[in-house]
Amino acid sequence: MNNILNTPLSIYGRQIPNRIVFHPMEGCDGKENGAIGELTRRRYLRFARSGAAIIWFEATAVCAEGRANPRQLYLNEETKDSYSELLAEIRKTALDECGYEPLIIVQLTHSGRFSKPNGTPEPIVAYRNSHWEKGKENQPYTVANDGYCESIPLRYAEAARLAQEVGFDGIDVKCCHGYLFNEFLSATEREGRYGGSLENRMRLYLECVDSARKAADKLFVTTRLNACDCFPYPYGYGVNAENEIDLSETKIIITELKKRGIGLINLTLGNPYLIPHINRPCINAPEDGKIGMERIYGVTKELKTAFPEIKFIMSGLSFEGENALDYVSDALSDGVADLAGFGRMTFAYPDFFRDYLQNGKLDKSKVCLKCSKCTELMRNASVAGCPVRDSEVYMPYYRRDVLKK
Ligand SMILES: Cc1cc2nc3c(=O)[nH]c(=O)nc-3n(C[C@H](O)[C@H](O)[C@H](O)COP(=O)(O)O)c2cc1C
Ligand code: SF4
Repeated sequence: MNNILNTPLSIYGRQIPNRIVFHPMEGCDGKENGAIGELTRRRYLRFARSGAAIIWFEATAVCAEGRANPRQLYLNEETKDSYSELLAEIRKTALDECGYEPLIIVQLTHSGRFSKPNGTPEPIVAYRNSHWEKGKENQPYTVANDGYCESIPLRYAEAARLAQEVGFDGIDVKCCHGYLFNEFLSATEREGRYGGSLENRMRLYLECVDSARKAADKLFVTTRLNACDCFPYPYGYGVNAENEIDLSETKIIITELKKRGIGLINLTLGNPYLIPHINRPCINAPEDGKIGMERIYGVTKELKTAFPEIKFIMSGLSFEGENALDYVSDALSDGVADLAGFGRMTFAYPDFFRDYLQNGKLDKSKVCLKCSKCTELMRNASVAGCPVRDSEVYMPYYRRDVLKK
């Protein structure tokens, strides 16, 4: 099929056959120690058959206290074998079914404010933030002190070393969606080495990029970055005093990333807890999803224009439903981004790209409906998947954990 989505691209000197990226999508279905669980394996083998050029492995914790839930993946000495086994299976399945292996990138994370390692909130925050904490002021908060921050690059180094040992191709030092490094970017009121000036606010993030690179010299390092937080000023970054999106600090951060050899950025924005419709436009939201898509399109285009040499991945595309591939194919042709990232669609309809290549269109009866039931599952401490399109597996969980029937 003659379409930009099906054209090759060079990423860190590696040729990939097409522009489709499966975004990191947490399944909350690992084992208690952070090893790969049965549903995790099932999800990734479905992804392996998809023909996607890049599979971006979901948020995987670098330390126990930074896990977002007791089932979040956690790469460590005890769990590493389950990762090597799954990676080998993904590669073999992709090769057998599609004739090529995807690049597999692991998203390494510290969940910071959203840490729930034992199932209830145990937030580790960059600073106290009244916008976030409205109504939750009495919850216990641990402010990550400078000593704790100094220990984090070592955790990233260890996880990166293991990522190399188990066979990932690349490492994502996650800095988005309000998790720890992203929150530091707006720590203007914090004192000391990690707050105040932008240089200080991005210190921890960049130190972890450096430590991951050093510890895993055969892997490439990339990042999932919030272009802007879309919180009212001064509670988030990427927003000016008039509450308009302002990417000037984002551009300084990307310049620093570029100096460190980062050539691929998976762009996102907003916060999935307080303003989920910003990062994944959906139905039943406070704004029309089309406005959300325009915002994503605009920030992605602005950053791609400022950094033409960096490969950017666009997000939020599942909102476009059966037109998603035509929509993003136009966006890529217009130079908005280089790659098309899909989140919810991968849960609902993992074969979407193969169908598109074969039939020139998507199957309307299989596309994501942007109904957010997968998120409801996650927020109800269940496993995450699509109860609508993958109902045999996930509807029983939805009934039990969301509808409480
Ligand atoms: C259930 C669920 C889990 C997610 N897990 C992650 C994750 O682990 N890491 C991440 O960066 N984004 C995560 N996201 C966000 C997606 O990667 C993606 O940015 C978002 O869904 C918008 O893309 P889409 O419109 O194609 O779904 C998750 C989203 C959902 C709905
Ligand atoms: S639950 Fe709804 S939003 Fe989530 S993947 Fe399925 S159809 Fe899409």
